[in-house]
Amino acid sequence: MQIRIKAIQSDALRITTDILAVGVPEQKTLSGTILKLDRKLNGAVSGLMKLGDFEGKEKTSVLLYTAGKMNAARVLLVGLGKKGKADLETLRRAAIAAASKAVEIKAVRLCVCLHQEIEGFKPAETAQAITEGLYFGAYRYDEYLGTDEAGKKRPAAIEAIIADISASFVAAAKKGLAAGAITGSCQNFARTLANRPANAVSPQTLADEAKKIARQSGLRCTILDEKRLAAKKMGGILAVGRGSANKPRLIILEYRPAKASKNTPAIGLVGKAITFDSGGISLKPGEGMQDMKFDKSGGIAVLGAMRAIAQLKPKVRVLGLVPAAENMPSGFAYRPGDIITTYSGKTVEIHSTDAEGRIILCDAITYAEELGCQTIVDIATLTGACVVALGQKRAGVMGNDEKLVERLKEISKKTGERIWPLPCDDEYVEIMKSKIADLKNTGGRWGGACTAAAFLSQFVKKAKWAHLDIAGVGVWGADESLAPGSIGFGVRLLTAFVMNT
Ligand code: BES
Ligand code: ZN
Ligand code: MN
Repeated sequence: MQIRIKAIQSDALRITTDILAVGVPEQKTLSGTILKLDRKLNGAVSGLMKLGDFEGKEKTSVLLYTAGKMNAARVLLVGLGKKGKADLETLRRAAIAAASKAVEIKAVRLCVCLHQEIEGFKPAETAQAITEGLYFGAYRYDEYLGTDEAGKKRPAAIEAIIADISASFVAAAKKGLAAGAITGSCQNFARTLANRPANAVSPQTLADEAKKIARQSGLRCTILDEKRLAAKKMGGILAVGRGSANKPRLIILEYRPAKASKNTPAIGLVGKAITFDSGGISLKPGEGMQDMKFDKSGGIAVLGAMRAIAQLKPKVRVLGLVPAAENMPSGFAYRPGDIITTYSGKTVEIHSTDAEGRIILCDAITYAEELGCQTIVDIATLTGACVVALGQKRAGVMGNDEKLVERLKEISKKTGERIWPLPCDDEYVEIMKSKIADLKNTGGRWGGACTAAAFLSQFVKKAKWAHLDIAGVGVWGADESLAPGSIGFGVRLLTAFVMNT
């Protein structure tokens, strides 16, 4: 669903709208906006609280009908939880709930008044988080669904308002809103690409999308097709892509700020895009294999972030590299036992063709450094082991530079895409050594997220490097309260990381 958002200086309680969403913290006695609202509704809010039907707890909400007592047709009370614990993610979540309800009841006008009871955040970051949440909550993946059955027709777009009585708040909020609209829409763009099935998205499709982004937002775009990959001897990407009729690509998007040249140091964002991971000759079990269309999510997070970065225009040069391939079994496929020569010159003995992510990433990491990246962050649905280690609430973060890892972790608290550190030092590299090649591509049963990262570390020369393993997070609808499918994990995080450099 399309959504358009404005910040307006106005008393939210007087606005004419289909839904007015009001943020309510847990509290014993009502105060401020909520007290005023309660009075307008003849005690409906305090009545609900007395009954214990709604207490302002996080992840709860209740819809009230105003029956002519206000200009708003409905009021949605959204729980914010304990006042002291509320953060930007609380606001983002509340906005998701509000927009999601608007979609559910086919509302056209939505007014949000979520932040009034939360203190300690700047107007701009408050508005950004709310805007991102509104975009997120309005999203549904419905490209393949037939038209709605009988009843109300779907509106073309939701018109949302962030209302506040203070003129200075609104002035500052407008900046945050503009930024939030960029990250919010780019994240939804990423979700749609990730949700599309593998019969609709091949490596070349992703290359076409990258070219479109470049055309629309002034980025440079280079696509290495299978011939150019072969000419460059990118043996990793080529090996993984060989089994499929849909040939591999390496997509490179470049953002160059004013005055930068191709020799200016850059930040590299590298994302794994396996458009479908069958496992290849080391075929995966059938159960759940349909979800392996999401194995392109890391690469798509990079495309989404580059699209946002192009509009937000930071002062730093940024390269987005997306190795894209389909991992399929066939008479042309690479096999267990094969020894391949990667772009770096290092040789790798293949033990499982299902450990393919690291094989495409290593070529892209080598190339990123060659193109001038002094900082590299890669993002990939890399290992089931990371899901076992951290579950579906945190992505793993590993790297060769503690400060970089720590910085990513701090930023992730603000963007709400939480990450948690795991080790990948020399002890894990040891496990990845092969007797007949420089490395092997699997490290056995234990610590799979760590050995995978340790493998990647061997392809970084001088750069500061961090790796995000997003195999577990939200991609597979970990949170029942969110729309099914991709959550576009990483778009906000990578964008914020670049913007704060
Ligand atoms: N794409 C998978 C990782 C994955 C697993 C993502 C589950 C999301 C959910 C990756 O290519 C893979 O197959 N990894 C193997 C590595 C193993 C063979 C060393 C794994 O995790 O089992
Ligand atoms: Zn994979
Ligand atoms: Mn795999």
